Amino acid sequence: MDTPTLLKELAPTVEDNLNRHLGVAQEWMPHEYVPWTEGRNFAHLDGEPWSVEQSTLSPIARTALEVNLLTEDNLPSYHREVERAFGRESAWGEWVNRWTAEEGRHAFCIRDYLLVTRGVDPDELERARMETMQTGYDSGDKPLLNVCAYVSFQELATRVSHRNTGKFTDEPIAEKLLTRVAKDENLHMIFYRNIVQAALELAPSQTMRAITDEVVDFKMPGSIIPGFGRKAVQMAMAGIYDLRIHHDEVLRPVLRQLRPFDREGLTPEGEQARDELAAFLTDLDGAASRFVEKREASRARAAARA
Ligand SMILES: [Fe+2]
Ligand SMILES: [Fe+2]
Repeated sequence: MDTPTLLKELAPTVEDNLNRHLGVAQEWMPHEYVPWTEGRNFAHLDGEPWSVEQSTLSPIARTALEVNLLTEDNLPSYHREVERAFGRESAWGEWVNRWTAEEGRHAFCIRDYLLVTRGVDPDELERARMETMQTGYDSGDKPLLNVCAYVSFQELATRVSHRNTGKFTDEPIAEKLLTRVAKDENLHMIFYRNIVQAALELAPSQTMRAITDEVVDFKMPGSIIPGFGRKAVQMAMAGIYDLRIHHDEVLRPVLRQLRPFDREGLTPEGEQARDELAAFLTDLDGAASRFVEKREASRARAAARA
């Protein structure tokens, strides 16, 4: 099915889900999650320059908050990608703007929190933000169904990353803030997943192929931020986001709702895509178990040395 037909056929589902979303999304105020009285001037306004001992966050919490914030900072790029795929017409266009407006809050409130509490090095953060946004995010003109499948997994991945980062801050205000942001991401995931579900009814084999490609090629939206590889390893070692979490808490829950393995009437191409998906998930599950075993062994060695 070509893109104009998909856009037209899926428009009623988008409209229903936009209305459902507007009914369940609760208004919240980003400024209410920032302890403003802790704030003070930096060096340029005759205040105190930032130094690491001012931060009450652990090094891993600082890394994870920075990765999550820089990921959110790149919203103009994501907006461009989603708008290119969905267009500006009908409920599709309305959703693009609503979703962008909600996403906008995420970077504002995390940045405000970190600057006021001196949680991370603000100069380093600003340089990394410049670099990230200048690199931009480019999905390579993904087709509509691929964009819908990707964002279903990505929104849940972001939710889990925010929520687990919140736990690692060991700081009640940060945890509350990140839990609030994570709730938004969950509603976004539900919206996109429902579109994919409708697409599976409409064009089963084509949608199956899109799901498989996006699961197999999945990369975090923040993978372009400076030093992402090293930071992602640190976050995996800490258990904030690792292969086990990706398989058990992101891929499987979305697929459990989409039920690709119960679907009948696929074409041979659709069957082929589904077999690839099943084989990939089996391999990933094995790799996740090996990673967890290695991590446990390295933690045990570190404990023995201490
Ligand atoms: Fe977000
Ligand atoms: Fe989101």
